[in-house]
Amino acid sequence: MSRTAPVIPGPDAPLADRDGVIWLDGALVPWREARLHVLSHGLHYGGSVFEGERAYDGRVFKLHEHSARLVASAREMGYALPWSAAELDAATREVVAAAGLTDGYVRPVAWRGGDTLRLVAPDSRVHVAVAAWPWPRIFTDGPRGIRLHTARWRRPAPDTAPVRAKTAAQYALGSLAGQEAEAAGRDDALLLDHRGRLAEATGANLFLVLDGALHTPPPECVLDGITRRTVIALARDLDLTVVERHLAPAELERATEVFLTGTAYEVQPVTAVDAREYPLGEVGTALAEAYTRTVRGGTGDTSDTTGTGDTTGTGDTTGTGDTGDSGVGGPVGEVPAAVPDGPR
Ligand SMILES: Cc1ncc(COP(=O)(O)O)c(C=O)c1O
Repeated sequence: MSRTAPVIPGPDAPLADRDGVIWLDGALVPWREARLHVLSHGLHYGGSVFEGERAYDGRVFKLHEHSARLVASAREMGYALPWSAAELDAATREVVAAAGLTDGYVRPVAWRGGDTLRLVAPDSRVHVAVAAWPWPRIFTDGPRGIRLHTARWRRPAPDTAPVRAKTAAQYALGSLAGQEAEAAGRDDALLLDHRGRLAEATGANLFLVLDGALHTPPPECVLDGITRRTVIALARDLDLTVVERHLAPAELERATEVFLTGTAYEVQPVTAVDAREYPLGEVGTALAEAYTRTVRGGTGDTSDTTGTGDTTGTGDTTGTGDTGDSGVGGPVGEVPAAVPDGPR
């Protein structure tokens, strides 16, 4: 297929057609040469695993928690990564430094390669790549709300799909739900779980404010979000009550605020779910501000270069990831409008 117009690499250029380098299987390679074979197992059977990370002021927030989740996701999908979480931390820092990134998005991904297309492929080689690119804040005028559409697609039960893994296999659903939401003129989809309870958005966890307290589904059928954990800890620091429990869709009627949390979304207020409207409320705003202070405070890189530290991502009880490392503060970052198009 020939191009009718030149593609100028830039913010709107296709992702695969940019300058720069990508870390692939242990080395930095030119961006356009970071390819995989069409007969890669991961492409055909959906077993790839990935992360979505954000760099603020040149540091990846909660880097080690993300690397550890990538390792754990691969394990859930039946394979071991050839790199430890600490090695992935180092690879990520190398990519971020090579890109000269200050504020940006980081995408580690791992997949079984092109050795065989047998479904059961224990000996298939596993590849890992880490790419990073600038993703500056889009809005400078404070948070805006997004509008959700309840999808007909549901998050599957833990005995139906590997729901704990951040795997491509799950994102077919999110992609379909997101398409449906956009066709309905909404920004994003709200998915219910297999029992019809509130679950999450296509790439973010869900919180409702009910009688001044935060209520959020437990990470049973939804991703155990790193931002979710951070926000729960920040809420408790603000003396807010946080209740993790199953939520019925009818509780949306009673909610005074709704917001989402995710690496890409940060703390994202929701101003409508289907016909129900919500204000940009003070609880969500306070948490969005606290989250911004945390990510910009340089305290979120809990990576342990010895690889012997907390790899669960749950050991940080303050939720601020504060390991005593220094960092620079900065302005508010916000990318709400990128939700439909942006990565997860
Ligand atoms: C389906 C889904 N739920 C929740 C989240 C939020 O997770 P995190 O806060 O770790 O980015 C994401 C993003 O990774 C996601 O894709």
